[in-house]
Amino acid sequence: MPVVNMTPKGTLTSNILVVISIAAVFYAITFPIKNVTRKKPGNQENIVFNFTQMTTQNGYTSEEHTVVTEDGYILRIFRVQGGRKCDGKRRSLPVLLMHGLLLSSDVWLDAGTDNGLAYLIANACFDLWVGNCRGNYYSRRHETLDPDTDAKFWHFSVDEIGHYDVPAMVDYVLDYTGAEKLNYVGYSQGASTFFIMCSERPEYCNKINKMISLAPASRQFNTALNPYRLLLRLFALGHQYLRAMGVEEVLSNGAFLQEFLAYACEAYWTSSICNYGTSVLIDSYHPGSVTNETTKIMFKHFPAGTSLQNMVRYGQSAISPDFQKYDYGKDINIDVYGQETPPKFNLSAVTTPVVILYGKNDALVSVKDVKWLVSKLPNVIDLVEVKDPLWNHLDVAYSQYIGEMLFPKIFEHLVTNSIN
Ligand SMILES: *[C@@H]1O[C@H](CO)[C@@H](O)[C@H](O)[C@H]1NC(C)=O
Ligand SMILES: *[C@@H]1O[C@H](CO)[C@@H](O)[C@H](O)[C@H]1NC(C)=O
Ligand SMILES: *[C@@H]1O[C@H](CO)[C@@H](O)[C@H](O)[C@H]1NC(C)=O
Repeated sequence: MPVVNMTPKGTLTSNILVVISIAAVFYAITFPIKNVTRKKPGNQENIVFNFTQMTTQNGYTSEEHTVVTEDGYILRIFRVQGGRKCDGKRRSLPVLLMHGLLLSSDVWLDAGTDNGLAYLIANACFDLWVGNCRGNYYSRRHETLDPDTDAKFWHFSVDEIGHYDVPAMVDYVLDYTGAEKLNYVGYSQGASTFFIMCSERPEYCNKINKMISLAPASRQFNTALNPYRLLLRLFALGHQYLRAMGVEEVLSNGAFLQEFLAYACEAYWTSSICNYGTSVLIDSYHPGSVTNETTKIMFKHFPAGTSLQNMVRYGQSAISPDFQKYDYGKDINIDVYGQETPPKFNLSAVTTPVVILYGKNDALVSVKDVKWLVSKLPNVIDLVEVKDPLWNHLDVAYSQYIGEMLFPKIFEHLVTNSIN
């Protein structure tokens, strides 16, 4: 097993090499290749094939909506009206579909019309709303803060996304449609932010008919020892230095890493290499699951950007045995939380009926952490292991088998509305 050896027995040269590699990695995730031809990294004008373009090209009607959070973040969300075969018919209870870390609404389209979850849900004639959280290229705006010049814009993590963004989107959809409740489908961070919302603001639990979680993230104690975990640890250990250098936004669309991947993975002969590389570097290998077509387009949208603070928060959750808030360090914790250690989220307040689908081969959200989450949640109504034993984390978004492996179960739960 390729375990990274961090013991300090290396020579001066190898230490220098380590420092240079780390610097290169941070450069790659922060700065653009060519400032001249493209707008600043992170801006939505950069996006090749945006949500509206892709859905309308494929014959769907989609709308762009703007949601403003209590703390002033301006989020762009999308509504996809009934698939081509729905003839204006629409099933009741809107669905809010929420992406994961470093992703955007576009992730639900990249697997194509037969497997992208947004298409599948729209094809089944649901009134589908697709969210975007603060900091990604669609939601990089604020009423008073400028993301390019105000560091404060970036001082958030999943804690704030769960506390402000998810409730704002839920309220918006309910107000706009007049529905009493909605069904929520959340992937990875999109599930964890739901649990944060319910724990912090339990009144929101009652606005949700069912919560369908796909590879839900909570604590990440058992995330596999892979380069992704190492990167998270580096963020957690090195963030003061990065902040001092003015780094607040990371892994944005238009930064070197994304531009490089989008370019390098576009050729048909490189796409399978890119697919293999991604799965082994940040997840686990599932041969043949993601098509070359999907690999080519996914890097136009991934990574979609977030805050340094959010990555640090993930670095913390990879070593904490609890699902807890951002750790500012003892002194600031006392100011912010009134105690030295970050408070734990109260998962027993998540009273919404919860459905969980997870994969056995998921290296990011491990089965052990899913089982831990289940033991804390009071109302899990269905716990489903995806049939394919090689089902990994990225498969939820990109696999060519989503229609077969995930959607039937999701559909079953979306059509049985247990409004009480
Ligand atoms: C998507 O792209 C189209 C065409 O370039 C543009 O008119 C539209 O404003 C874009 N929408 C978003 C949300 O970026
Ligand atoms: C992707 O393309 C390669 C050829 O470069 C081919 O060998 C491979 O089977 C393709 N993968 C899929 C999932 O279609
Ligand atoms: C957690 O939530 C449950 C259910 O709402 C409540 O009874 C309990 O008091 C809460 N615990 C804490 C520590 O707030």
